[in-house]
Amino acid sequence: MKENEKELIDLDEEGNIKGEKEEKKASKSNNTFKILATVIIIAIIICAIIFTLKQYKRTNRIELIIANDYDEMSEKAANIIAELIKNNPNAILGLATGSTPIGTYIELIKKFNNKEISFKNVKTFNLDEYIGLDQFHPQSYYYYMYDHLFKHIDINLNNTHIPKGEGVTETNIKEYEDLLNKNKINLQILGVGRNGHIGFNEPGTDFGLGVHDVMLHNNTIMDNARFFENDLNKVPKKAITMGIRNILDAETIILMANGTNKADAIKNVMENKVDVNIPVTALNIHKGKVYIIVDKKAASKL
Ligand code: GLP
Repeated sequence: MKENEKELIDLDEEGNIKGEKEEKKASKSNNTFKILATVIIIAIIICAIIFTLKQYKRTNRIELIIANDYDEMSEKAANIIAELIKNNPNAILGLATGSTPIGTYIELIKKFNNKEISFKNVKTFNLDEYIGLDQFHPQSYYYYMYDHLFKHIDINLNNTHIPKGEGVTETNIKEYEDLLNKNKINLQILGVGRNGHIGFNEPGTDFGLGVHDVMLHNNTIMDNARFFENDLNKVPKKAITMGIRNILDAETIILMANGTNKADAIKNVMENKVDVNIPVTALNIHKGKVYIIVDKKAASKL
């Protein structure tokens, strides 16, 4: 015991009591560790607060609705559209084509037949049209709209607008842009291509573009071949489309998607990406309300 005590009060070369220096060192590094840990904890708390606020802001604008299947997805979208028309009989709708919105149009026709809504004073603007197909070609989007919706309801055909795919493209582009500038769309319906295109805005399209013409990407041509007897040669290669700027000008947007081939596109939007190579992610910079209504398969990667 005495030996030990003696050891403790032994001085080192600098005159410090032996052992005390190590203790001081240990307590110094202990303090540094505590400060570091506190800084890290504070940083984590700040990050968590920022993340929560961002999520809150985001979920306020983007509302994800996961439906059990295609029919439920269509009903939910039609209910939102019908509510708008009830509240504003002069509503201006932005319409889409493709297989996705067909069920929604069927639901809207039911509501019209039940006298729940009237389209008498509603105006519509479609997203896009193939270049080179005449209006009455069964695969033109003009024909699609007439066949799937307009002929079944009381809309005034003069109030329906679809970009012209025939004639001088530059003139058609200018006319459609002018029309859109004079008519603010209250509610825009969107489908999405497998590669994330909206309207015919293919990956790489500048988000600031207005109405423009476009060369379709190979996978869009392949995807759409099913409407042209699976003959790639019959699918038009060019189209005229609203630009992403026009789409984002709409007050409210409903994006619909069903099926596993849309799951990546939906995942990319919900991850809050903004990527020019995935056009649908432009919805993340939309200033108004966005409903994303998907079936379980399209939501499978969330
Ligand atoms: C076409 C249309 C798009 C549509 C897309 C998806 O390319 N231009 O507006 O969203 O097809 O089509 P579908 O709904 O048939 O999957």
